[in-house]
Amino acid sequence: MNWQEEYKSKLMTANEAVKLIKDGDKIVTSFGCGEPRGIERAMFENYADFKDVEIINMLLLGDTPWIKDEVRGHFSYHSFFASHSNRKAISGGIADFTTCHFYEIPSVLKNVIKPRVTVMSVCPPDEDGYVSLGTNADYIESTLSYCEVKIAQVNKFVPRTFGKARKHISAFDCFVECDEPLPEVPSPALTDVERQIGANCASLIHDGDCLQLGIGGIPNAICEQLKNKKDLGLHSEMVGDGVVDLIESGVINNSKKTLHPGKTVLGFAFGTRRLFDFIDNNPDIEMYPIEYVNHPMIIALNNNMVSVNSCIQVDLMGQVVSDTIGIDQFSGVGGQVDFVRGATMSRGGRSIIAMPSTARGNTISKIVTKITDHSAVTTTRNDVNYIVTEYGIAQLKGKTMKDRARELIKIAHPNFREELTEAFERRFSEKL
Ligand code: COA
Repeated sequence: MNWQEEYKSKLMTANEAVKLIKDGDKIVTSFGCGEPRGIERAMFENYADFKDVEIINMLLLGDTPWIKDEVRGHFSYHSFFASHSNRKAISGGIADFTTCHFYEIPSVLKNVIKPRVTVMSVCPPDEDGYVSLGTNADYIESTLSYCEVKIAQVNKFVPRTFGKARKHISAFDCFVECDEPLPEVPSPALTDVERQIGANCASLIHDGDCLQLGIGGIPNAICEQLKNKKDLGLHSEMVGDGVVDLIESGVINNSKKTLHPGKTVLGFAFGTRRLFDFIDNNPDIEMYPIEYVNHPMIIALNNNMVSVNSCIQVDLMGQVVSDTIGIDQFSGVGGQVDFVRGATMSRGGRSIIAMPSTARGNTISKIVTKITDHSAVTTTRNDVNYIVTEYGIAQLKGKTMKDRARELIKIAHPNFREELTEAFERRFSEKL
């Protein structure tokens, strides 16, 4: 049988494909821009045919159908990352949430959660019978090696990407052809505060550095400030639209990279059609599974690795809270700690946590004497390096507790510096 015959023999309608799912199954699906919505729709429309099926993924950009009242008892939902589409359900106990470093998710899936079925998006096969996982290699790539049932939605809007995203059609059990535009993540307009944070971060980034840019508004602000740099590299769990101009203009050319020189290495793409078109058939972009891209030892093989991520709160010891607001799960650890540690281990590397100095219309300081009760520390005080706000840069590594507090108070919003200083003095005088 040639690949065309094999492909044809595996073609099904979405309604036929979902019949491969059994009651009690655990199903891992692609997330973000790689969400296989055509197959998910068929699962949702036929929900009454299923019992106790658990859907596992990172986050969905639109609604999460698996938390709706009508599917209860038929489907349940289990996420690795809270977002607007599942946050309430996680806080309310309707959805489950698992926290672990992103590079560990593939092994947690394979060895602990053990899904039987995997569902993902791919682009149509090329002339040799290879499809591509498109925007998302991340945790989904390795599911092809251990899930019993492997279902792909073939969608012409999925970009053809290379690296480990390229898969032969023999890796799948069934294909459902369904063309539909991918979910998109538009970049919000930058605020002046974000621009200033971007400028402060850019002052820590040197020509020839290799970058990781995290999630949230700040990465795009940084990209805007990097236009005059040279020979930057990119090795990042994810990217948004912000990097496209930098690669097109040659600022990011990966020429100084010590791992995958000449190539941009990514785990997933999280942007708009502009980004999808840019990575489509682009031999300079390579997608790899997250257990590789995010492994601190792999990250560290890039010299001068600089990670840039954001957070919710930092206390005066430098403990960083990035994914909880009190008891509520706001997002997830993602690859923050993977990259903080990898960058720290890299020769010439450094890690940056960048954030506005305040939240909620300047009413709350994000630099605090004590983190909010029930919040979880994401990046520990032992891992932290640079903290950046619109007011400047605090370098914490190797600093005493007193000096950390002094550095952080300097970059806090002026409205809160006095109360932070009083708390700091009280704390240390009581100890004397
Ligand atoms: N107290 C209370 N609320 C706070 C707060 C604080 N200290 N800090 C932020 N918030 C609120 C904001 O007011 C905002 O609320 P709103 O959505 O109601 O407006 C919300 O939290 C998000 O703040 P914002 O600064 O706009 O977030 P962002 O989109 O820039 O994302 C993180 C920031 C920290 C949530 C995000 O970077 C993250 O999830 N990080 C952890 C994962 C990670 O770093 N992964 C690495 C690579 S992907």
